[in-house]
Amino acid sequence: MRPKISIIGAGNVGATTAHLAALKGLGDIVLVDVVDGVPQGKGLDILESLPVERKSVRVLGGTSYDSIAHSDLVVITAGLARKPGMSRDDLLVKNAEIVSEVSKHVRQYAPEAIVIVVSNPLDAMVHVAAAAGFPSRKVIGMAGVLDSIRFATFIAEAAGVSVDNVQTLVLGGHGDQMIPLTSCARIAGLPLETFLTKEQIETIVERTKNGGIEIVNYLKTGSAYYAPAASVVEMIEAILHDKKKILPCACWLEGEYGFSGVFIGVPAVLGRKGVEKIVEISLSNQEREAFAKNVGHVRELVSKVGL
Ligand code: NAI
Ligand code: 2OP
Repeated sequence: MRPKISIIGAGNVGATTAHLAALKGLGDIVLVDVVDGVPQGKGLDILESLPVERKSVRVLGGTSYDSIAHSDLVVITAGLARKPGMSRDDLLVKNAEIVSEVSKHVRQYAPEAIVIVVSNPLDAMVHVAAAAGFPSRKVIGMAGVLDSIRFATFIAEAAGVSVDNVQTLVLGGHGDQMIPLTSCARIAGLPLETFLTKEQIETIVERTKNGGIEIVNYLKTGSAYYAPAASVVEMIEAILHDKKKILPCACWLEGEYGFSGVFIGVPAVLGRKGVEKIVEISLSNQEREAFAKNVGHVRELVSKVGL
């Protein structure tokens, strides 16, 4: 039987994720949104695009949660996106209400599903979703993949090499204080300094940290969705195909990196059970301090929504 993927929120990220996942034939797809007509219309449009690629998965949209029953995986993209002048944290209160309500429905109708949270502010929203009662290793936040592919894009561009040669890792929360790890980044297995000056690397790190707002400032009406959707799809594929792929994502820490009881971005092995292992890499003192600051910030946001 084909896996079943449900996507809550049929907006920019949700619908683009549905389209990419359907084109890859990753499973049957259900789109759910509060705005009647939108998930039905986008779902049908996506379905009608599939004969071109000879993909015969089912795509269905609606407003009712009955349709998500027996999902293997649920992606939560419901909520507000930021506009110019707003930080992700400005979305906290409203999106916490939305994600809390959505997650309770997901828990009720698809209790066995692995849940990928996308709504912002990401790390805090993963806590909100988990509060609905999912096992902690089955609730995972998407942000690190996005931040890492942005980092890779900028490195490849500056070095004048293929992105295929670039490996990157961004650690910590999905905010301005995220930690693009220059010490782990490689171009064809070689340190960045082989190809780039110190100044170029510093510029790339800053651009990565501000990758989200750069797109918001261009779009003006919302935030990025092509790269975010591609990132979600990479996680979906790793999980449903039990790839044991190491991807950075917001995971529940139980002592790893010296912290417990918090969801935050770390590299993790993703497979059919969700987060199967957290990979601990050694950090410099400066990176460790930055990570601790990120944890403190996420905890602050989480306490503001009463968790
Ligand atoms: P969007 O505005 O295009 O779509 C959001 C959708 O959620 C809308 O269709 C809306 O009707 C729906 N929605 C609102 N309340 C709902 C509810 N109670 N139940 C079901 N659906 C509901 O926004 P977009 O661009 O798709 O972004 C979605 C969220 O993802 C935002 O919070 C954004 O900040 C976040 N995001 C996070 C990223 C990350 O790296 N973690 C990357 C990109 C976006
Ligand atoms: C981004 O980084 C909106 O958080 C999202 O593009």
